[in-house]
Amino acid sequence: MREKQAVTRDAEVFGGGVAVITGAGSGIGAGLARRAGALGMTVIAADIDEAGAGQTVAEIVARGGRGEAVRVDVARAEELDALAEHVFARHGAVRLLVNNAGIETVGYSWEIPADRWDRTLAINVHGVIHGVRAFVPRMLETGQECWIGNVTSVAAFGHMPAQTAYMVSKHAVQSFSECLYLELELKQAPIHVSSIVPGTVRTAIFDARNNAGEPASAQGHRGAMAAMLDEHGMAADDAAALFLAQMAEGRFWVHSHPEMAEAMAAARGAFLAGQLAPVMPEIARHIAVE
Ligand SMILES: NC(=O)c1ccc[n+]([C@@H]2O[C@H](COP(=O)([O-])OP(=O)(O)OC[C@H]3O[C@@H](n4cnc5c(N)ncnc54)[C@H](O)[C@@H]3O)[C@@H](O)[C@H]2O)c1
Repeated sequence: MREKQAVTRDAEVFGGGVAVITGAGSGIGAGLARRAGALGMTVIAADIDEAGAGQTVAEIVARGGRGEAVRVDVARAEELDALAEHVFARHGAVRLLVNNAGIETVGYSWEIPADRWDRTLAINVHGVIHGVRAFVPRMLETGQECWIGNVTSVAAFGHMPAQTAYMVSKHAVQSFSECLYLELELKQAPIHVSSIVPGTVRTAIFDARNNAGEPASAQGHRGAMAAMLDEHGMAADDAAALFLAQMAEGRFWVHSHPEMAEAMAAARGAFLAGQLAPVMPEIARHIAVE
């Protein structure tokens, strides 16, 4: 007799629901989309890279799952409104929203052109805010239990020169998620909010093709960070499985590398409590920005 397969908590919570994952054309977002598909969700893979999102959905469908790829630029509030309208109309209530799309920006603050600063904040911060603004009213209307994950980073726990634009954006997303959690508690809404905190995950985030507008002086550092992720990063599918399992438990803090996050949070606590001057992180001593 064949043994019955154990149904995991995440499959119980998410199976049969609708998932919307931004930035699902690559890396962590693609991993989350594939995992959500494997858990039995209908997956909306939203990405500015339509071919990448299409590839992710093709992989889900090839494994017997369901999904749709939608081209969305999360920097544009109206595109997230249109996405929410489309998904609720075509697929029904959304059970899981992960605001994951994000970019890295490398270089000294004063050398990054205004456009690149604006783009970084528009994608990493406004993309998350407008995802919530577009989806939450519709989620509230259904009255059903649902889950929102906003992807921040261990970057939200510290400081790092020459990745300032990125650090600023991730601190902002962390703060946004904390306040959103409390707002939904005030409303007594059945919506769980998680702060998803990746450590180091092997993805395309530092790929040279994502460097438009960055100063040439920063490209050595970008290359070094890409090599570091290639060598030490966790596989995106493994990180995604951890994230969805922890979200299904209703946790606010969701980690791929809990020890790294704990060490950085402890250092941040000491920095704030002691009112210290910013401390150069060890890794920054090797920064290759000219
Ligand atoms: N890789 C890591 O180690 C790491 C660590 C901490 C946090 N993160 C965060 O994880 C998230 C995903 O990054 P990743 O590492 O998988 O990178 P990635 O570059 O592999 O994937 C990012 C995806 O976002 C998409 N995207 C970019 N701009 C967009 C826009 N305007 N609208 C819609 N989609 C857009 C890209 O096309 C790409 O498919 C980001 O928020 C990133 O900051 C990653």
